[in-house]
Amino acid sequence: MSVNERTYIMIKPDGVQRNLVGKIIARFEERGYKLIALKLVHATPEHLEKHYEDLKGKGFFPGLIKYMASGPVVAMVWQGLDAVKTGRVMLGATNPLASPIGSIRGDYALSVGRNICHGSDSVESAEKEIALWFPEGIVQWTSELEPWVL
Ligand code: TYD
Repeated sequence: MSVNERTYIMIKPDGVQRNLVGKIIARFEERGYKLIALKLVHATPEHLEKHYEDLKGKGFFPGLIKYMASGPVVAMVWQGLDAVKTGRVMLGATNPLASPIGSIRGDYALSVGRNICHGSDSVESAEKEIALWFPEGIVQWTSELEPWVL
C-alpha cells in the first residue's frame, strides 16, 4: 500500500475532441484522488515518441504518434493511495472492448486505436512520464482554507 503515490493520467486527443474531459476528471475527483498538476498540451511527434519509446518498432507505432499529435491532450498528475494500480483499473483494458462497463474505456470507447485516455502502468513509468510532461516540476499543494470547507 503506497499512500502518496503519483500517477500520470492523460486524456488523449479523441477524449478532448469528444468533450469527455470533465467526466474523466470527475471520476478521479470522486474516487478520492488529489489533482496536483494539469495542463492542455498539443504535443510534438518527437515528444510523443519519447512517451511511447517502449513501443517503437510496433506496427501501430506511426499511427499512434499521428493520432496522439492530432490535437491537444490533457496532461495530469493525480496523487493518492495506490494511484498507479487503481488508475489502471479505472481506465480499463488497452482494448476498450475488453474493458469492463464502469471503467473509463469500457464506458466511452470502442477501439484500441482511439481509447481516449492513458495511465501509467508502474510507479517507475509514472515517475518517468511525470518528468517528461512536467519538466517545470510539480509543487505539492495544501489548501490554506479552513478545514470546514471539506
Ligand atoms: P500500451 O502501452 O500497450 O497500452 P496502455 O495504453 O493500455 O498502457 O499501448 C499504448 C497505446 O498504443 C494504447 O493505449 C493504444 C495503442 N495501441 C494500438 O493502437 N494498437 C495495439 O495493438 C496496442 C497494443 C496499442
